[in-house]
Amino acid sequence: MAQTGNFKSPARMSSLGDGAEISAAGSVPGGKPRETVLKGVDFERRGFLHKVVGGVGAIVAATTLYPVVKYIIPPTKEIKMVNELNVGKISEVPDGGAKIFQFNEDKVIVTNVGGTLTAVSAVCTHLGCLVTWKADIKEYFCPCHGAKYKQTGEIISGPQPKPLKLYKAKIDGDNIVVSKA
Ligand code: FES
Repeated sequence: MAQTGNFKSPARMSSLGDGAEISAAGSVPGGKPRETVLKGVDFERRGFLHKVVGGVGAIVAATTLYPVVKYIIPPTKEIKMVNELNVGKISEVPDGGAKIFQFNEDKVIVTNVGGTLTAVSAVCTHLGCLVTWKADIKEYFCPCHGAKYKQTGEIISGPQPKPLKLYKAKIDGDNIVVSKA
């Protein structure tokens, strides 16, 4: 850092003894006027260097923060809306079983009872929890507040205001195809 003042304070000079000399105001040690000493200092270069250091600091901060921000904010996944979709293999839903698939913006639960596929929205109409399939009693159950639905989505009991949305499900070769009802 550049020297900008007289550093020989009276207090310090008295501690140095009687032989020390106090500089006059506006001068630097050596007796030269401050203007003479600072004549060669290039203030424009110093300002430029400050900007360069600031710029490098900003770049380092940005490259450090970018991955953190990308991690915190999940990427938005674009969903292509379709009327019909091959959601998976029939082997994934054996007799008595069920599986949840993504269909457009919804989660659809496909059940298989004796080879007949049924597809309804798996999103509970109460507060949006995912329902589970109770194969032994052939009902959907919502673990959040106990809503119960029939296999075709109608309400059995619970706080839910509406039945589950019904979709069409069919087998096409080895695949399950879901479409809007
Ligand atoms: S969210 Fe399903 S019963 Fe409340």
